[in-house]
Amino acid sequence: MAKKLRVGVVFGGRSGEHEVSLLSAASILKAIDRRKFDVVPIGINKAGHWLTSGAAQGLLEGAGGEPAATAAEPAPKAGKKLRAGDPAATPGARVLAKGQPTLLAPEPEETGSATATTALTQAGAAALDSHAALGSQSLDVVFPVLHGTFGEDGTIQGLFELAGIAYVGSGVLGSSAGMDKDVMKRLFAQARLPIVKHVTLLRAEWEKQPRKSVALIEASLKYPVFVKPANLGSSVGISKVHDRKELGPALDLAARYDRKLVVEAGVGGTKAKARELEVAVLGNDDPKASVVGEIIPGKEFYDYEAKYLSEGSVPVIPAKLSRAEAKQIREMAVAAFRACDLSGLARVDFLMEPDGKRRIYLNEVNTLPGFTKISMYPKLWEATGIPYKELITRLIELALERHAEKSRTVYSRE
Ligand SMILES: Nc1ncnc2c1ncn2[C@@H]1O[C@H](COP(=O)(O)OP(=O)(O)O)[C@@H](O)[C@H]1O
Ligand SMILES: [Mg+2]
Repeated sequence: MAKKLRVGVVFGGRSGEHEVSLLSAASILKAIDRRKFDVVPIGINKAGHWLTSGAAQGLLEGAGGEPAATAAEPAPKAGKKLRAGDPAATPGARVLAKGQPTLLAPEPEETGSATATTALTQAGAAALDSHAALGSQSLDVVFPVLHGTFGEDGTIQGLFELAGIAYVGSGVLGSSAGMDKDVMKRLFAQARLPIVKHVTLLRAEWEKQPRKSVALIEASLKYPVFVKPANLGSSVGISKVHDRKELGPALDLAARYDRKLVVEAGVGGTKAKARELEVAVLGNDDPKASVVGEIIPGKEFYDYEAKYLSEGSVPVIPAKLSRAEAKQIREMAVAAFRACDLSGLARVDFLMEPDGKRRIYLNEVNTLPGFTKISMYPKLWEATGIPYKELITRLIELALERHAEKSRTVYSRE
């Protein structure tokens, strides 16, 4: 039998989507193919500290990845409602509660080798004596199960590049382009993909020249508009603005979260909600698109509450579309993936006019979408013929393929 690969599953993180990440990681730890992979869970707590568990394997044994109860840590009382962050709820939360500090050294262990792979090195750990050394926990590949800032935006991907380790998902450029709604739109426009009319302005411009900013927005767009911080996710800081009176507060809110603000024409207009269509894309240089899914949000738009807190949002797979519409959307999803130079995976989201011409607009790409077994990305692949466990294996293979491909590149003059 081939040697098992050692996979570091990194989760948690400093973003507002920390808890969502714990749930995604718990699902992955439960489903990952243990015949092929040894798993090292690595948690990043909200303060940004990296933790792993000395008894990583033991932690993951028991009921399919759920922590086994011990005398010292009895099983939670029946009826107690556990949240993602409770140590008893997910193996990830357990690592965060009990794990030992660890480091990922920003230097490759064996330069020049395509399979050279170490991340959690003793040398790196020893560099800071407050961090325990990890022994022989070198990794073959990392699966960052992180959403949002510092996980999905190219920052941690930069660390993996420096460490010379293979990792699941997009590289530095794709991750950061896919996080920035302003840059993303420029790339879509350049690839002739349809996007809604929008205005980008800097927080500094809004703060120094509020009247001029409002005039600029109103000269290009009609209400309702959507105001967004350029970089974030989970609808945080996003408002639907129905008239001028609501515009200022919405810009102030978005300005708390980013130095760049994006204002967009609202799809659906004053009377209707946009239809929200989503496609899962998988691959590296030859990406493939899943069937199209639709989310029917329980609220006026798909805000944070509708995403995570209320039960009201309903997924429909496949979405009710004509064959031509579905084909067009799938092609656009692949084109968007290429336009942002993505790899591995992305969920590509569209907005569609519900009536009339049923115009379709590309909204955004998500380079590390929610990944619980019931999240849209895995569900779309399941409906397209790739079950969850296999999808995880495929993503790890794609990470290794990309790493091997990249390792052909020479970085200095020979
Ligand atoms: N231009 C728009 N027209 C209509 N609805 C929009 C528009 N932009 C955003 N929305 C609504 O707001 C939600 C969140 O916006 P989105 O750009 O996807 O941000 P995030 O990156 O936080 O998911 C969308 O899912 C949709 O419900
Ligand atoms: Mg979105």
